[in-house]
Amino acid sequence: MKENLSINLKNTSKFIPFEEIIAHAQQSVRHLDTLNNGTGLGNDFLGWLSLPDDILPQLERIEKTARHLRSVSDTTLVIGIGGSYLGARAVIEALSHSFSPLLKTKHHDVIFAGQNICEDYLAELLELVEGRNYSIIVISKSGTTTEPAIAFRILKDHLERKVGKLAAAERIIAITDAKKGALRSLVETNGYETFIIPDNIGGRYSVLTPVGLLPIAISGLDIRMLVKGAKSMEELTRNNKHAETNPSLLYASARNLLLQNGKPIEIMVGFTPKLHFFSEWWKQLYGESEGKDGKGIFPASVDLTTDLHSMGQYIQDGQRILFETMISVKSPVKKLTIPLEKDDSDQLNYLAGKRLSEVNHNAESGTVLAHNDGNVPIININIPALDEFYSGQLIYFFEMACAISGYILDVNPFDQPGVEAYKKNMFALLNKPGFEEAGKKLKERL
Ligand code: PA5
Repeated sequence: MKENLSINLKNTSKFIPFEEIIAHAQQSVRHLDTLNNGTGLGNDFLGWLSLPDDILPQLERIEKTARHLRSVSDTTLVIGIGGSYLGARAVIEALSHSFSPLLKTKHHDVIFAGQNICEDYLAELLELVEGRNYSIIVISKSGTTTEPAIAFRILKDHLERKVGKLAAAERIIAITDAKKGALRSLVETNGYETFIIPDNIGGRYSVLTPVGLLPIAISGLDIRMLVKGAKSMEELTRNNKHAETNPSLLYASARNLLLQNGKPIEIMVGFTPKLHFFSEWWKQLYGESEGKDGKGIFPASVDLTTDLHSMGQYIQDGQRILFETMISVKSPVKKLTIPLEKDDSDQLNYLAGKRLSEVNHNAESGTVLAHNDGNVPIININIPALDEFYSGQLIYFFEMACAISGYILDVNPFDQPGVEAYKKNMFALLNKPGFEEAGKKLKERL
């Protein structure tokens, strides 16, 4: 049996006694019950709880579609934003070769679009794909989100001009709502292959649906192992009322007690750039789920040791309003040792023969001690390796903890009313039909 992800609260004990965290987590079991009984806020968005089982019947079709796109093209453009983008990117960046797009060996590139409205980004993407044989996956649950809708209009038009309308339709896959939205209408008109995002799963909890799994499968990763990892974490957390052995309960309680003790900012820390987009996914999950009604912990992130040479100063010495959640990966996939040099002018011979991971682990331990001495509490999350199984564990672990944490804060962890504010203003400023009056008032203010 595989070892599980584990949580270590040793480096929070100076700030909150372990017994207090256990007691809080034990009390929070009621939130687990609320989730399982579907009696809490946002209870129409609980489909993610049983996804590790519910998604199994769809895996074969997802894999088949992935094989098809890999056989007809060398690049897939994945269009989406927020929850329709970050989960897939997190897993793909964590588990793929760091230099995938630059590799000369035969491989399939997955490139993301629709996550911004930057003219240069899309224009440069068009320059790149002009010389490529590409497919498109467009993902939008609502089917009306402006950023991916614009990117899809432009890229679909390009693909249709490049290969013809019929051939383009065979290499465009849409992932959207079963009935609603403009993307659904495009699907009906053009006959694209589609996957459905269930009504009871919100964007940021959708990585274990085709939203995340199809792009991940296209990049060549093992989605069955990812789901298996998530299932093992469901088994460890969902019905485990013994708080001391339930990592999601412990994490949710520890971070809320830290908030109550004057630490409103949580920094996700990884010691590999491969975790960069995992932190981005986590920031969206927690930021959108908790940041409402004037409440919530502000989620931030750093990549270490890189950012020890920038944000490290603030973390060590700035306002004491921070805590860190550090993901430690025990073993890297590859092996590299530091060579011995006869002439030791760079004075690194004391490291000769050591693996880079040993140096990195010592940097990590040194950082933990230094930050703890600087009064930064640290929650340590440990995984044996960065692979599909543990990515699945991380995803389910954080989702479960986020839902519990939202209930601890007494907010609805499954809605995001705040994101509408900028959209309304943008539509009004762009003279979208129906927004004319609001547009006039806003323009006066500018
Ligand atoms: O978590 C969420 O619900 C949001 O971040 C959405 O995923 C994001 O706004 C994109 O929405 P859609 O998939 O409807 O285009």
